Amino acid sequence: MSLLVSEIPAPILRTRLYEALEVYVSAMHYPRGVEHSRAPMWAEHMLRDGWRAVAAFQIPDTGPGAAVATDDAATAMDDATAAMDDATAIPEAARLVGIAYGYHGAPAYWWDRQVRSAVRDTAGPEGTRLMSDYFELTEIHVAPSAQGKGIGAALLTRLLSGLAESRVLLSTPEVPEEQNRAWQLYRRMGFEDVLRHFRFVGDRRDFAVLGRTLPLP
Ligand SMILES: CC(C)(COP(=O)(O)OP(=O)(O)OC[C@H]1O[C@@H](n2cnc3c(N)ncnc32)[C@H](O)[C@@H]1OP(=O)(O)O)[C@@H](O)C(=O)NCCC(=O)NCCS
Repeated sequence: MSLLVSEIPAPILRTRLYEALEVYVSAMHYPRGVEHSRAPMWAEHMLRDGWRAVAAFQIPDTGPGAAVATDDAATAMDDATAAMDDATAIPEAARLVGIAYGYHGAPAYWWDRQVRSAVRDTAGPEGTRLMSDYFELTEIHVAPSAQGKGIGAALLTRLLSGLAESRVLLSTPEVPEEQNRAWQLYRRMGFEDVLRHFRFVGDRRDFAVLGRTLPLP
């Protein structure tokens, strides 16, 4: 089995949208059926300024060109990235196991308005500056069977490479001691606190908003 991590243009993601949503639903342990309510939202996000997505695929070793026979994602990544930068080359048999996307943050969006007003309240003018030019990392998910092999890190690195924005922001649920893979991934990649124990309107969970400057080192 080899691994391909590639930018995925909107027309290709549209054809594989339910595959990507299945990864999302299983990674988040949401009940089946949630994908139907999320599909229109993900499709609308694809139309936003600066939208960009990256996907990870497992490719069976049987076909020509599928030469990377390893379970070590880091090793596979180098070969796959070099060999298959062109998303149109994604083989039919490739199984989508990871998805990450985001877009240019702007006050027109619900997430931005919620976070902007909280950041302004807590950090004043510095908070306004934080929100002036950023990429919102909206979703990042890896299928449970493929987690813990470096795919999340590869998706994030690829997604954030070469962006025009000077900063990336995201929100993630608070968990005790920051003990889950999402938190560990974000901390490992240099994300710092912007807001803690923040409540989005209509959601009873506590969230953290994290951010870091771009480009990545
Ligand atoms: C968060 C998430 C996207 C991270 O993806 P991932 O592929 O599991 O992340 P990584 O593999 O890069 O890192 C996870 C682990 O693999 C280890 N790892 C990293 N590179 C590795 C490699 N090349 N080989 C083996 N292991 C590696 C890391 O040490 C890390 O271990 P840890 O979890 O004990 O800290 C994924 O776990 C997920 O989908 N979680 C559920 C959904 C979710 O929380 N999404 C984010 C919502 S905000």
